[in-house]
Amino acid sequence: MSVQVTRRAAPADDEVFGKAYDSRIVARTWEYVRPFRLHMGWAIALMVTIACANLAGPFLIKLAIDEAIASGNVGLLTLTALGYVLSALIVWLGTFGQSYIMSWVGQSALFNMRRQLFTHLQRLSFNYYDNMETGRIISRMTGDVNALNEFLTSGVVAIASDFFVLIGIVVLILAINWRLGLLTLSVVPVIAVATHIYRSRSRQLYRDVRTQNAIVTGHLAENISGVRVVQAFAREDVNLQNFDKVNRANLQTLLKASAFSSAFNPITVLISTLATVLIIWYGGQKVLQGVLTVGELYAFLAYVGRFFEPINDLSSKYNSMQAAMAGGERVFELLDTPPAVQNKPSAYELPPIRGHVVFEDVIFEYVPGRPVLRGISLAAKPGEVVALVGHTGAGKSSIISILLRFYDTKGGSITIDGHDIRDVTTDSLRRQVGLVLQEPFLFSGNIRDNILYGKLDASEEEVIAAAKAVNLHDFIESLPFGYDTEVNERGTTLSQGQRQLLSFARALIADPRILILDEATSSVDTTTEKLIQKALETLMRGRTSFVIAHRLSTIKAADQILVLSQGEIIERGTHTELLGQEGYYYNLYSMQFRYQELGLAHNVFGGDEDGAPPASLPTAPAAPATPTPAPAQ
Ligand SMILES: Nc1ncnc2c1ncn2[C@@H]1O[C@H](COP(=O)(O)OP(=O)(O)OP(=O)(O)O)[C@@H](O)[C@H]1O
Ligand SMILES: [Mg+2]
Repeated sequence: MSVQVTRRAAPADDEVFGKAYDSRIVARTWEYVRPFRLHMGWAIALMVTIACANLAGPFLIKLAIDEAIASGNVGLLTLTALGYVLSALIVWLGTFGQSYIMSWVGQSALFNMRRQLFTHLQRLSFNYYDNMETGRIISRMTGDVNALNEFLTSGVVAIASDFFVLIGIVVLILAINWRLGLLTLSVVPVIAVATHIYRSRSRQLYRDVRTQNAIVTGHLAENISGVRVVQAFAREDVNLQNFDKVNRANLQTLLKASAFSSAFNPITVLISTLATVLIIWYGGQKVLQGVLTVGELYAFLAYVGRFFEPINDLSSKYNSMQAAMAGGERVFELLDTPPAVQNKPSAYELPPIRGHVVFEDVIFEYVPGRPVLRGISLAAKPGEVVALVGHTGAGKSSIISILLRFYDTKGGSITIDGHDIRDVTTDSLRRQVGLVLQEPFLFSGNIRDNILYGKLDASEEEVIAAAKAVNLHDFIESLPFGYDTEVNERGTTLSQGQRQLLSFARALIADPRILILDEATSSVDTTTEKLIQKALETLMRGRTSFVIAHRLSTIKAADQILVLSQGEIIERGTHTELLGQEGYYYNLYSMQFRYQELGLAHNVFGGDEDGAPPASLPTAPAAPATPTPAPAQ
């Protein structure tokens, strides 16, 4: 278990350093905001009011100094003081109203976006999930949508307000004294250039920090989840050394980043001090010459003091805009991904079926050019049990995936009672086909909910009947909370065998005409095994069943066994017939059956997990007398 420290760089997908403005994405986002445009209008009106009230402050003080104090007008002085209080009140109330409205708008818009994403994710076909890690999908639902949210709630209006304030200040200082105004504005390019340099350099540094963080976290996660192996192999010291390396690299990057920002902050202070000095030096002379009043000089200083705030704010908003654009791009890309499997415009509801399934020369590939099923033909009459056997990777699971139309095939046809599955709606098809997976997935909720998953409107009697039919009722009753016992995704409260029985009950209650079952390979004790066998018989009775079989008992009971190898059916028949042929199946059987009959292993075919003899199944048909052993893939 060697631990590589370099491989876990943050995926390129997570990078947020792209365009800060993308009209396409803004237009798409606007569609979500449009329903709330009236609110948005209010927020903008408030923003303008706040900015005006803000800008009025220094002007009022100038009035107080130049008019009221100079002429000893106490009434005017009181009035300006009251005006100042009023402007502060307006700023306070306005800010409250504006930020509340904007977060309301942002959250409501993104509530709808999340809902749309969720709906879309449920519709996307399996091929999307085959190629996408869960973590990335979740980060789109959360991180990317949040980036957009932040931009909408605190970004849009703040940016508009910053611009508004900047323009207001420029106009005001030029109006007070245009010469002094121009002189002051001469530092703006310096500030703009410095800020730009700082931003681009720090962006790079913080990207490194994030990458390093991801490496440290990944390292930590691996060591925590693999702690048993770490201890079993006494790898603690080596792993600590490896961890030290990544941890130190992380430290160095962080120090570099903080040294940089520590160096930059004093520079902005320096520049704004320079502007102040210029104003006092030049403006002071103008006051002495009588061209400028003291009040005007004060107002100048106050306005220039407020000038740097929006500039700083704008440059920090730049990053959040980049994040929002990148987030939006990924969200919309996901929303624009069409499901690979779609209903035809002319698709009709599959009428209630009897369960006559026919595959005709079906060709299927996950990756273009690499067929995994090559010309599969089969026919299952209503009520028949078809067992699929074959080496791991032979294509068994693929057959059931295309029967449920999780993927579309490349050639041939699949019909149910004569209806081509591509002509009917996927919903009506899947509703009539029950699927029991190898690893039953339990949803968080109680046992009853998990059985009801198969038929939401089932009555309590039906739930109990289903549980009884699979011999799970007595066990459930023995639990302190009975059917109300909470289970979770991993089904920790239930044993593996019990989870299987539960998934049988779920399938049974749905009462599908066609049943698809991927038999679990894991070993359970003999009593549970018997229970499961009986439950299986109940489950399959009267339904056309496709079983990826690992149990000898299931295989023996099947009406037809299809032996798959490398995407082709190489033998077919009943257990007795196939044994008589003394071919591939005969080999599999004679090599493995005695272990099962001795009760040593439950999975005859395919991979084994629990101490059964190593699978030495031929990958291609072999002559009965000279089986060619091949390692399990
Ligand atoms: N989602 C996928 N994308 C690409 N290739 C896949 C995918 N799923 C399966 N395959 C490939 O298709 C082939 C058949 O796989 P399939 O899952 O049908 O085998 P299987 O017979 O069910 O094996 P097992 O007994 O191990 O479950 C394999 O070679 C596998 O690598
Ligand atoms: Mg499989």
